[in-house]
Amino acid sequence: MITMKDVIREGNPLLKQKSVDVNIPLSKEDEELIISMMEYVYNSCDPEMNEKYDLRPAVGLAAPQLGILKKMIAIVAPDESGNEHEFALINPKLLSYSDELTYLEGGEGCLSVDRACDAYIHRPARVMFEAYFYDLKTGKLEKKRMKLKGYLSVVFQHEYDHLNGILFVDRANKTNPKFIPDNSKPIQFKEN
Ligand code: NI
Repeated sequence: MITMKDVIREGNPLLKQKSVDVNIPLSKEDEELIISMMEYVYNSCDPEMNEKYDLRPAVGLAAPQLGILKKMIAIVAPDESGNEHEFALINPKLLSYSDELTYLEGGEGCLSVDRACDAYIHRPARVMFEAYFYDLKTGKLEKKRMKLKGYLSVVFQHEYDHLNGILFVDRANKTNPKFIPDNSKPIQFKEN
């Protein structure tokens, strides 16, 4: 299983490199990789597993964070209403994005970044992408397009950036980290 010792950190040159497409159909090795990446994300948010293996909680993980330059992303994250969504993505490709921006008021975090960075990271509020979606239950791959908005859009873009060698801290406004452009609105989670 993947633990934090497998996660490479800021300063490692692999995090600056672009990932390459994964061969379809998936090799056994690649299939096992996406499964264990999804497992990490699930385990990291499970209090018992988290404590037992000292995992840092994450809503997403990209293969380059393991030093593997392959276009693979694991996401398990809630939308603003608290509904959980699971995406095991192979070869995602961003097709379009909105002019309107959004950001997390608490800032972003990353397993590969150990320092605090409380800049606002403004990203398109809506994206459309295509990818091969791996179904954890059936083991089937399906190529489809998907639109995401708000928090899920931000999570997707954060992970997608990893495939292009970009960390969220690279996107921070260095001179004015809390700058808010006119076309950016904060993500609002609904209270239960
Ligand atoms: Ni990250």
